[in-house]
Amino acid sequence: MHFFQYKKGELYAEDVPVKRIVAQFGTPVYIYSTGTLVRHFRAYDEAFDGKPHIICFALKANSNSALIRLFAKQGSGADVVSGGELFRALKAGVPARKIVYAGVGKTGDEIRYALKNKILMFNVESDNELREIDRIAGDLKVKAPIALRINPDIDPQTHPYISTGLKKHKFGIPIEYALEHYKFAKSLKNTAVIGIHKHIGSQLTKISPFVDSLKRILLLIDELAKHGIKIDYLDVGGGLGITYFNEDPPQPKDLAKQILPMLENRDITLVMEPGRSLVGNAGILVTKTLYLKDGEEKNFIIVDAGMNDLMRPSLYDAYHHIQPVVKNRRDTMIADIVGPICESGDFLAKDREVRKVKQGEYLAVMSAGAYGFSMSSNYNSRPRAAEVMVHGKEFALVRKRESLNDLLHGELIPDFVR
Ligand code: LLP
Repeated sequence: MHFFQYKKGELYAEDVPVKRIVAQFGTPVYIYSTGTLVRHFRAYDEAFDGKPHIICFALKANSNSALIRLFAKQGSGADVVSGGELFRALKAGVPARKIVYAGVGKTGDEIRYALKNKILMFNVESDNELREIDRIAGDLKVKAPIALRINPDIDPQTHPYISTGLKKHKFGIPIEYALEHYKFAKSLKNTAVIGIHKHIGSQLTKISPFVDSLKRILLLIDELAKHGIKIDYLDVGGGLGITYFNEDPPQPKDLAKQILPMLENRDITLVMEPGRSLVGNAGILVTKTLYLKDGEEKNFIIVDAGMNDLMRPSLYDAYHHIQPVVKNRRDTMIADIVGPICESGDFLAKDREVRKVKQGEYLAVMSAGAYGFSMSSNYNSRPRAAEVMVHGKEFALVRKRESLNDLLHGELIPDFVR
């Protein structure tokens, strides 16, 4: 459910015609709907009402400051995976006590930064990392709160690039060795073991892998208790899917229905790290048709957004609906919708049936709020897109379109090439 709907044949973002935003800010432009964002956040929050919980928005899905701020005001925490994301979360007003920090390669500087800011916990992925966190905590004379990320060896049944919970993946500690690692963590002087973490993958459209992995984790929690290791925070990760094409993914309430009974009588705070399911359908990318090209074998619609703006189709062969900003009744055609980047892999859609488009017309790439702008780059020296947020009848720029000068920011020409 989202608030990008047609009114009299024209696409609106909440109560604002998309055309108006485009007229003011140009294309390509990301547009986010606050109504949709808040609705999605509340769906999680309300579903888990009654059980102590923290919803830590996974910043990697979309790290725009205004969006993080909006969630923070709703009570959201943050799941961060770098010092940069931690910086963004703190700047946007997320309380440190609601921030969890994951990732296989945290640097010493990043660990120090997080410790100084007193985050809720580190989700730790190896003994090596535990030692490093413990050493730095010792230097700072603090105790480092940690959870171990456990790899439950469950197939999440999603795209291989975004599944993480199998033995062959680089993430987490294999569940069969978890106890030893917890004992080791407990033996460290400057480390406080407080939690357990799992995340098995993204864009999950079935609930069973989620539940199966949780069962394994709960057995482990009981085993740990027998060894005097008490778990206060159970971080179940993110991963709920959204509808891109015709998927029918579980909703937070479906998840709650399965999970909450499993947690009854357990004195534990539930932590969740949703990214895509909070923001995915709350954002669109609007692009302009530059040229039409009828090839011998294929028709091409060449637009001004490329793989540098939205990488998902190129990288994962991901499907995104593409709709006209103003509806028409023309015949349909089959076309590749491609960007201006000099690579054959630069496409937003392949062999897509669309109504015929004319030069200069706008198209909306739907479900682009997650892993859209956050994965964008300056490849081909293309300034990154503008981002706009809509709230009812109001709308505002939340990130300026980059300028040509921005492209050179930080670059230096040394004397020896002058
Ligand atoms: N927690 C951890 C530890 C994660 O690794 C991830 C995502 C999340 C939470 C949030 O997962 P979500 O709720 O968004 O599924 N770029 C890919 C997705 C990569 C996901 C990486 N980890 C895409 O565009 O599909």
